[in-house]
Amino acid sequence: MENYSECYHCSLNHPTFSNGVVKPETYDIQPQGKCLRHTTECQNLADMTYDIRSGFDHHDQYSSWFLWPMFSFQVYPGNILNTYHWRALDADHVIVWRGWYSAGGRENEVVRKLAVQDRETTVEEDIHLVESVQRGLNSRGYRPGPLVIDPNCGVNSEHPIMHLQRWMRDAIEMA
Ligand SMILES: [Fe+2]
Repeated sequence: MENYSECYHCSLNHPTFSNGVVKPETYDIQPQGKCLRHTTECQNLADMTYDIRSGFDHHDQYSSWFLWPMFSFQVYPGNILNTYHWRALDADHVIVWRGWYSAGGRENEVVRKLAVQDRETTVEEDIHLVESVQRGLNSRGYRPGPLVIDPNCGVNSEHPIMHLQRWMRDAIEMA
């Protein structure tokens, strides 16, 4: 969830997402209650890797809402809706289900191809990253470090991690 909730790793780790979908310098993440709202402008819509007219309408921006504790929906340009549903099995294991939606629930080849592209690029890149981070967390040398907080909530700011960790502490204290 921390990985999903910040985008400072996007430019280095997600070339397809950063060059073909979003414009990282406009990426903005804002807390709203126990939700993290992501919005950004997109790169040149003519260079998108899919036809943006294949979604629910022609809305040309990217947005996402992460809903504490383990769900998000993400809207690709063209209002192509997809969801992440995380389920923690224990401290070291998680299952992630993705859902992809099409107008009228009809088979849509563009959406199916985009789902495969997303799995093979952004999701695959994140799996390598988060598994590496998890190994690091288990090392004897690990110590939590400071978070980088940009008051303007720019793409390199880790303020969403601060909110996630606060919400987690609150949940543990209430348990
Ligand atoms: Fe990522």
